[in-house]
Amino acid sequence: MPAYCDHNATTPVDPRVREAMLPWLGERHGNPSSIHRWGRAAREAVEAARDEVAALLGARSGEIVFTASGTEANNTVLATVARRAGFRGSIVVSALEHSSIRAGAGFLEAAGMRVTRVAPGGDGVVDPAAVAAALEDDTRLVALMRASNEIGTLQPVAEVAALCRERGVPLLCDAVQAVGKVPVDVGELGADWATLGGHKFHGPPGVAALWVRPQAALDPLLLGGSQERRRRAGTENVAGVVGLGRAAALAAAELPDRTRHLAALRDRFEAGAAALGARLHAVASPRLPNTAHLAFDGVEGEALLIRLDLAGFAVSTGSACASGAVEPSPTLLAMGLPRQEALGSIRVSFGMTNTAAEVEALVAALEHEVAALRRLAPGGGRAARAAGAGG
Ligand SMILES: Cc1ncc(COP(=O)(O)O)c(C=O)c1O
Repeated sequence: MPAYCDHNATTPVDPRVREAMLPWLGERHGNPSSIHRWGRAAREAVEAARDEVAALLGARSGEIVFTASGTEANNTVLATVARRAGFRGSIVVSALEHSSIRAGAGFLEAAGMRVTRVAPGGDGVVDPAAVAAALEDDTRLVALMRASNEIGTLQPVAEVAALCRERGVPLLCDAVQAVGKVPVDVGELGADWATLGGHKFHGPPGVAALWVRPQAALDPLLLGGSQERRRRAGTENVAGVVGLGRAAALAAAELPDRTRHLAALRDRFEAGAAALGARLHAVASPRLPNTAHLAFDGVEGEALLIRLDLAGFAVSTGSACASGAVEPSPTLLAMGLPRQEALGSIRVSFGMTNTAAEVEALVAALEHEVAALRRLAPGGGRAARAAGAGG
């Protein structure tokens, strides 16, 4: 029984989302900026989707800007802040951030801004006091994600937002992994911008949204038309936006069931993996219901991923965007995980289509493949077992 267990990388499109999109890939078409009836119909569809996304976040429709990706949404905020600051001053980012913020911060650093990276504790959670300590008089932005794409830990965004507000520093919250798995209400979050992406919660890829607090700045990253109230140039991806709206409406209606279903799968998996001697990471931290992060002593994560793939199971070694890199994930190193353990880690992330039977099959495959890798290791894995691997 093969099973896809890499939903933090991307999720399959919900058939109900696909149904909503199909007319806009077929008989229905129109440019939402056109004033004729085809254009007006497309505009109506885009605005209905905007309402659905806003409702999921507890926001107003006018605060939602559609983009082509979470990466674009995050980059737009970084560019807005940096340009307005004349590329001077500092920004503070958590060391957990996704590459769309990490690389963006690196770009701003090369352009002359100072970047302070705040490491999480060993529990994978950033301490608000550490963010407070990093703030300087010329800090222009703090970026703290709601949920880590790699280890799944939830970050204290509301607390950090409160202290940022006191200091007059705006806060960007990347909520791409949180939306659709746990409640995300922008009022409670307290950030100035929040980002989400369709393909992380059974919507389509290539469409995302940026929530912008009224009065928060947002300048277009792309130059061109006046779409999205002059905040994002380019003809709207109507089918994608409609799909995102449907995915948001479904997530809003089904969130408690989803959280329960995902947590049950994750807990079942973690119990099975623990019985095999896995080291489970960040289990005592507040975290997403769907993500497990673990390592087996003496086993290389990449090798395990490949063997599981051959056996029919998709997992990941860290974030999808970092796969292919031989260096351990910066997130795991920032948490203080030893290099070997970071390299040995895999991420298993469940989605709504996974079943308990798939979890059982994955645990059985894990047992088989870990044992095989240990047999192949120099010394037949004796060294690993002597190091206390168990299982
Ligand atoms: C936390 C987080 N932020 C941003 C992104 C980027 O989103 P997109 O793939 O839509 O560019 C991802 C995707 O991996 C993510 O996990």
